[in-house]
Amino acid sequence: DEDDREDRIAAAREALGDDVIVLGHNYQRREIVERADFVGDSYELSKRAAESDARYVVFCGVTFMAESADVITDDDQTVVLPSMEASCPMAGMAEALQVDAAWADLTAALPDREIVPVTYMNSYADLKAFCAEQGGLVCTSSNAHRAFEWALERGDAVLFLPDKHLGENTAHRLGIAGRAVEWDPWAPETQNPDAVADADVVLWEGYCQVHERFSVEHVERVRAEHPDAKVVVHPECRREVVEAADRAGSTSAIRAAVADADPGETWAVGTEIHLVRHLRRWHPEVTVLPLCGDACVDCNAMRQVDPNYLTWMLEELAAGRERNVIEVTPEEKRLAGIALDRMLRL
Ligand code: 13P
Ligand code: SF4
Repeated sequence: DEDDREDRIAAAREALGDDVIVLGHNYQRREIVERADFVGDSYELSKRAAESDARYVVFCGVTFMAESADVITDDDQTVVLPSMEASCPMAGMAEALQVDAAWADLTAALPDREIVPVTYMNSYADLKAFCAEQGGLVCTSSNAHRAFEWALERGDAVLFLPDKHLGENTAHRLGIAGRAVEWDPWAPETQNPDAVADADVVLWEGYCQVHERFSVEHVERVRAEHPDAKVVVHPECRREVVEAADRAGSTSAIRAAVADADPGETWAVGTEIHLVRHLRRWHPEVTVLPLCGDACVDCNAMRQVDPNYLTWMLEELAAGRERNVIEVTPEEKRLAGIALDRMLRL
């Protein structure tokens, strides 16, 4: 039960002392965020991992985030993930091998244009390494616009992977949406090279299953039922949803919007349901509504990090046993590190 778990976690942490840091993403369950040393969005977590000198980084999030932590931390630090099942489906929508093939098609279709690949943090280390090799970088939802600007200073067009919605929303933010086109890697033969010939942004066909569920009807319904409500959504939502909302931002930007609200305000939040529930607990003076009511869902990947696994992981580390170690190969670590470093310097 929870008391027993609390005692066991406390005992393991006491034994480990400063040797361990527990990082938790904003979408983790209550039992995890209450026990993490730091809770934040993908960008903040990668910064915290980089700054930490703890021997063990227990990463309560998904595999691509833990991989990035391994890339960023020193070689004598070990990154562990409480559940190896925690894999973001969107990150799997742009496999490095498949991107290699698409890159060959794209660069052949546009021989005179310098394309700079930019990958969302939600991708695996081999794709981040590919981006570094091709002169590109990584971004998160909190700095995608700056990453696009960086890339467009160095080349003629951005290939953005894997989230087409974040890519489109970022192009809008920069006022270049008219020249953002989709490239379907699953059917390159149907692609008209003329359509991408003078594009500023080429969008990969990837998306988040949690955020694609939100629709303009959800925004309209909440506004009809709560005329004073403000709407904040994650930029992984479709373009029209972001346009209908009052604000869009990373999971921590969503947190900040509610934290900064005046008592009595109502905020409808379009993102993963655990964060919506945390916001309700953290800010009882604000009315926090899930944007799609009962239809809002959790992220199946994030949910895999069960508090019992965290207990087990800490006890194993305290006993000197390293489990579920996330280790990127040295060459990928070097290259992905370049792509992540370019982001951290933006
Ligand atoms: P943030 O970078 O905003 O935390 O988002 C990560 C994510 O996976 C959202 O679905
Ligand atoms: Fe991936 Fe979506 Fe889950 Fe974020 S919410 S980790 S993008 S599946």
